[in-house]
Amino acid sequence: MEVVILPDAKTIAATAADAIVHLLAAKPTAVLGLATGSSPLALYNELALRYAAGQVSFAQAKAFMLDEYVGLPAEHPERYRNVIEREIAARVDFAPGAVQGPDGLATDLPAACRAYDQAIRDAGGVDLQILGIGSDGHIAFNEPGSSLASRTRLKTLTRQTIADNARFFGGDPAAVPRHVLTQGLGTIMEAKHLVLMALGRHKAEAIHHMVEGGVSAMWPGSLLQFHPHVTVLVDDAAAARLQLADYYRHTYANKPAWQGL
Ligand code: F6R
Repeated sequence: MEVVILPDAKTIAATAADAIVHLLAAKPTAVLGLATGSSPLALYNELALRYAAGQVSFAQAKAFMLDEYVGLPAEHPERYRNVIEREIAARVDFAPGAVQGPDGLATDLPAACRAYDQAIRDAGGVDLQILGIGSDGHIAFNEPGSSLASRTRLKTLTRQTIADNARFFGGDPAAVPRHVLTQGLGTIMEAKHLVLMALGRHKAEAIHHMVEGGVSAMWPGSLLQFHPHVTVLVDDAAAARLQLADYYRHTYANKPAWQGL
């Protein structure tokens, strides 16, 4: 796991964008994994700017979303399919149908989850997965206690996540759906490169457990310690509880230029 401590959201976004632009230049048909929430917003802005500047094309790429609320009406602005459309898909040149997400309006939710895992496999798997992390340590919506081998399925949000996400629903926790469909931890672990972004002091404990704690379902992100290629991009505040912060800074400052992320 490579931990990169960067000064601000803009630098984190630019660093993640570099990795995606580099991947698409080498493999135009790459499969991306898209997260929602606040953490990737600056990255999506950066990618839209680079697309507008002619530096990257998504025309042959595919993308799979991490998760979706269950039961939000199709036109609801916070439905993750609509968020991803607004924040990135509509701002670049993805082909129609190239961006997929779990179907939170399916009548048979377990079947929709199985079909989603299969669609990811059929696409050849995710090349680069963007991730955020919840203040309770969740990855996608794999809340504490999630099976470390889980596949895409229904989960119930914790009270903490409902409170955290109320800001997207006019500050009203009662408006946040209780259920979501989420890629499982086992599904996410099959992506070839995981790029996790976290900003702010409220993420410091989760980042500490994820990077330096024991691997445990109590901190689902800690499973990433078993993945061979993880890049963790954090600001100083999110890095505040890392015991080896000085070493991570030293390592990045001395990173051979040819290595990339
Ligand atoms: C969203 C997702 C979640 C968020 C996490 C952090 O697709 O998968 O795991 O990444 O809740 O959210 P923010 O970035 O809003 O702090």
